[in-house]
Amino acid sequence: MVPRYLSPSLLLAGALVLPGCARAAGTATTADAGKVVVACGATEEWCAAMTSAFTAATGIKSEFVRLSSGETLARIQAARSDPEFDVWHGGPADGYAAAAARGLLDKYVSPNAAAIPGRYKAADGTWTGVYVGVLGFCSNTKVLAEKRLQAPESWQGLLDPALKQDVGMAHPSTSGTAYTTLWTQVTLHGGNVDQALAYMKRLHPNVLQYSKSGVSPAQQVARGEVGVSVVFSHDCVATREQGFPDLRVTFPAEGTGYEVGGVALIKGAHDPVSAKKYIDWALTPAAQEIGPSVRSYQVPTNPRAKRSDKSADLAALKLIDYDTTAAGEHKLELTRRFDSEIAKAPKS
Ligand code: G6P
Repeated sequence: MVPRYLSPSLLLAGALVLPGCARAAGTATTADAGKVVVACGATEEWCAAMTSAFTAATGIKSEFVRLSSGETLARIQAARSDPEFDVWHGGPADGYAAAAARGLLDKYVSPNAAAIPGRYKAADGTWTGVYVGVLGFCSNTKVLAEKRLQAPESWQGLLDPALKQDVGMAHPSTSGTAYTTLWTQVTLHGGNVDQALAYMKRLHPNVLQYSKSGVSPAQQVARGEVGVSVVFSHDCVATREQGFPDLRVTFPAEGTGYEVGGVALIKGAHDPVSAKKYIDWALTPAAQEIGPSVRSYQVPTNPRAKRSDKSADLAALKLIDYDTTAAGEHKLELTRRFDSEIAKAPKS
């Protein structure tokens, strides 16, 4: 639908990018137009900082639409014959693996990918990692103390009936954060999908509601709507810094999952030359050091990038063996099952 305040001629000229419509249909060109349109999967602030720093560094125009992982996947699939986006940047790489398995990404091995450790990039060159984020519990200690509860320290502890409707979590169909939670359960249950879904079913009565984006439950817990949420720990740290000192991060004793945030070239990108320059840039230490300036404390994948002392210490945590490729291959089937067996995906 075209908003009334926009002239149709502007839209036809492709001169504007609308929030819900990254690139107006029918504007395909074979020549590179010197502009990159990014499907951006991290926080709005991170996306804005990244795209404007890229433009400042290269002179190439850039625009972004912030989308959760499942939304990006659905949109690049729907627009595969006339892609809206050139690059996907940020958000867990299992979404990228799911897209690659459907032929929605083009292989691009940036010269700068040589610096990124092998565990943080696809073996076939379809995506490269830009950051690592660790799943944790974000507790509002004041809210929990009023109920004489402690911050949970295990996945089992999260099932405590005393936490009925007091847990915040996003929906795995839309949110990469929540899908990381689901795949973490699959891994902790030795690859048994039925047992993982059984855990989620037991958790369900404690979940107040499933939000669309992964960062929302951190804000819910800050507002005191729930006592604890399952989020990437850096989103809890960032929310605490926004004036919520009662927030506290704990990690589950059984082990926790993590994301490798990705960057990739969309198949059939309208501006592949600019898109590759964007990917080259996203892998540099300079780009990966931008996060903390907008309170994004993921761990950089480039070992030469300076790591914030607010980032999680990966070596000190009990991390599970998170198989991004397998997680990606099962994403559609598992989220469909979550949708039909546990909860319908949120509409907005
Ligand atoms: C936040 C985190 C990112 C993460 C993203 C996933 O922005 O800071 O590290 O990649 O959420 O978003 P989603 O809405 O798909 O869970």
